[in-house]
Amino acid sequence: MELTNQQKYWITGATSGIGRALCIELAQLEHKLIISSRNAEELGKLALEYPKLIQILPCDVSNNEEMAELFSTKMPTLKNLDGIFLCAGVCEYIDLPKFNLDAFQKAVAINYLGTVNSCAAAYPLLSNSVSDMPNKKPFIAGLCSMSSYLGFPRAEAYGASKAAMAYFLNSLRADIGDKIDVIPVYLGFVKTPMTAQNDFPMPFLISPEEAARGILNKLTKRPLRINLPWRLHAVLGTFSKLQRLWYQTIIPRMRRSRNVT
Ligand SMILES: NC(=O)c1ccc[n+]([C@@H]2O[C@H](COP(=O)([O-])OP(=O)(O)OC[C@H]3O[C@@H](n4cnc5c(N)ncnc54)[C@H](OP(=O)(O)O)[C@@H]3O)[C@@H](O)[C@H]2O)c1
Repeated sequence: MELTNQQKYWITGATSGIGRALCIELAQLEHKLIISSRNAEELGKLALEYPKLIQILPCDVSNNEEMAELFSTKMPTLKNLDGIFLCAGVCEYIDLPKFNLDAFQKAVAINYLGTVNSCAAAYPLLSNSVSDMPNKKPFIAGLCSMSSYLGFPRAEAYGASKAAMAYFLNSLRADIGDKIDVIPVYLGFVKTPMTAQNDFPMPFLISPEEAARGILNKLTKRPLRINLPWRLHAVLGTFSKLQRLWYQTIIPRMRRSRNVT
């Protein structure tokens, strides 16, 4: 990826956390950005900081009708995109014995189907940037989660939606990877408004700025996937090979620390 060559990127979930940090990093490198979230006012404030570089495109990624016509109705003159960063997402926890169906529906509609809607909306524009040079292919980078490596308490809705998102991206790569790089970004814990609700220890917690820089740095090599931070990836990767230890030793400790019996 030519980060110094003023490319054109679309960032969803741009008003907060990792998406916002990515916007700032990319705008400082003078890339042109189209930024989305549901909050037009917040998008406008961010755009004011870089008026020559940022255009706003408010949308709800879970709104199928709106997303199907997003660029054709709201940005009809836009011809191409060099890459997209799919950061829009929500975290919904479950408190058993209540299987809160609303939480499942919201997580699936935004995290999974929102990713599908975003890829479908951007696909024609990414296709117009197809290049024969390997590191100049357009790309789709989607923020997935290491929570999908293993079962985590209360993550029945969130973790499943992020696992579906990751599978979707890997499958999409199998179909279009010769023309467009599709890169799931598996994140550990990042200190954002989303994780502010977490009432448990978050090992290897990183800042949104560290996450954004780490993603952009690794993206230059066009890997099949990005794991960030690598230390949590290594720990969870080991436990995913030792699942009895995870479910019989580590998970009961997590439950006890939350006083859940
Ligand atoms: N933070 C972590 O530790 C962590 C770990 C693993 C994965 N991730 C993933 O990384 C991504 C960003 O997380 P974050 O921590 O930066 O979260 P965040 O600070 O809560 O930001 C989420 C962003 O998504 C937008 N959004 C939410 N629902 C939307 C919708 N229906 N349509 C359009 N935009 C929507 C929000 O803006 P509006 O509400 O204004 O629309 C906001 O800009 C998420 O996909 C998350 O699952 C985060």
